[in-house]
Amino acid sequence: MFDGFLVNFVIRFTIHSLKFHFNMLPNYSLTHPRYEKMTYNRCGNSGLLLPAISLGLWHNFGFVDSIENGRNILRTAFDSGITHFDLANNYGPPAGSAEENFGTMLKHDFATHRDELIISTKAGYAMWTGPYGEWGSKKYLVSSLDQSLKRMQLDYVDIFYSHRPDPWTPLEETMATLDLIVRQGKALYVGISNYSAADTKRAAEMLRNMGTPCLIHQPKYSMFVREPEGELFAEIERQGMGCIAFSPLAQGLLTNRYLKGIPADSRAAKPHGFLQQEQVSEFAIEKVKKLNEIAQQRQQSMAQMALAWVLRDRRVTSVLIGASSVEQLNVNLGTLNTLSFTNDELQHIDHILNS
Ligand SMILES: NC(=O)c1ccc[n+]([C@@H]2O[C@H](COP(=O)([O-])OP(=O)(O)OC[C@H]3O[C@@H](n4cnc5c(N)ncnc54)[C@H](OP(=O)(O)O)[C@@H]3O)[C@@H](O)[C@H]2O)c1
Repeated sequence: MFDGFLVNFVIRFTIHSLKFHFNMLPNYSLTHPRYEKMTYNRCGNSGLLLPAISLGLWHNFGFVDSIENGRNILRTAFDSGITHFDLANNYGPPAGSAEENFGTMLKHDFATHRDELIISTKAGYAMWTGPYGEWGSKKYLVSSLDQSLKRMQLDYVDIFYSHRPDPWTPLEETMATLDLIVRQGKALYVGISNYSAADTKRAAEMLRNMGTPCLIHQPKYSMFVREPEGELFAEIERQGMGCIAFSPLAQGLLTNRYLKGIPADSRAAKPHGFLQQEQVSEFAIEKVKKLNEIAQQRQQSMAQMALAWVLRDRRVTSVLIGASSVEQLNVNLGTLNTLSFTNDELQHIDHILNS
C-alpha cells in the first residue's frame, strides 16, 4: 500500500515538474535567425560587439509593472538580435525590483543563452539608507554589485558601471574598485555614466594604468540633449571607449506619443515615471510636430528618425532605448531599415532643433 502511494506520488510529481518545465521552456532554438536582423558595432577599441539597439529596464520592469508584458518585450528583443540588456541597482520601482524580475525571466527563458547576452548593471544613486548606500566609495560599489548579482541570480555581469561621479570620493578609489571587481570576476568590463569629459579622461587613464581599460561611457544623448557633442564625444573617441546613448527618445518625447496630449498609460502620466508633465511642453511638442514631417517624408516614424539620428554619429556604438510594449519595440527595431540622412535633412533638423 505504501509502495502504491509512493509510485503514485512520484508519477504525479514527475508530471507536475514536466508541465512546469515545458511551460517555462524557452521558445528559442539555436537555429533561430535572430542575429541576421541586427547590426553589431564594435565598442571602442575593445573586442566586444554591441547591438546598434540595446534595451534598458529603467521603466516597465518593476514590481509595479506587468511581468508578462516585460517578459514579452524581453523575448521579442532577444529574438530580434538585441543581445544587450541594461540595468541598475535602483531600477524599479521599488528599487531593485527590475533586477529581481529580470533574474526570474533570465532563469526561465534565457538560462541556456547566458553566453549570448551582455548584461550590465550600475551603482551610484541612492539604494539603501545610511552613509554607504550611494555615490562611489569602495564600500558601496562592492556591496551594491553583490546585491545586484543576488537579485539577478548571476555569477557575474558583463559590464559594471559607476553610475555617476562622486564629488567627495577620490576618483582613484572609485576606479580602483572597478578594477578590483573585474579582477574578482564579478564583471567582465567596466564603464562610467554621467561623467564629464574631464572626469572621463582621468578615469580612463587611471583604469588603463591598472590594466582594466574603460570599455564604455553611458551619457544622455538625443535630439533634445546634445551636450555630449561638445567635448565628451571627442574624449570618448580619444580614449578608445565605446558610447551607449541613454534616453535617445527623450523618454518618449521624440515619438508620436504626446502629439495629441498626455495619454493615461504614458510615462508622463504615471506617478513613478521620470518624465514630468511640465517637460511635455508646447514648445517641445511644436518641434516634434515639425520633426515628424521630416520623418514622414523619409517614410519613417518619429521614433525611428530620432534613433537613426543618434546613430548617425559613428562614435555612438548603440542606442539604449526603453519600451513599454512589444509594438513600440518593433517600431524601434525598424529604425535599422533607414539609417542614413541627406545633408539637407540634417540641416533641416538642426534648424528645427535650434529654433
Ligand atoms: N545612466 C543613466 O543615468 C541612465 C538614465 C536613464 C536611463 N538610462 C538607461 O537608458 C534606458 C532607456 O532610457 P529611456 O527609457 O528614458 O529611453 P527612451 O527610449 O528615450 O524612452 C523610452 C520611452 O519612450 C516611449 N517609447 C519608446 N518607443 C516608442 C515608440 N516607438 N513610440 C512611442 N513611444 C515610444 C515609451 O514610453 P511610454 O512608457 O510612455 O510608452 C518608453 O518607455 C533605461 O532603461 C536605462 O537602461 C540610463
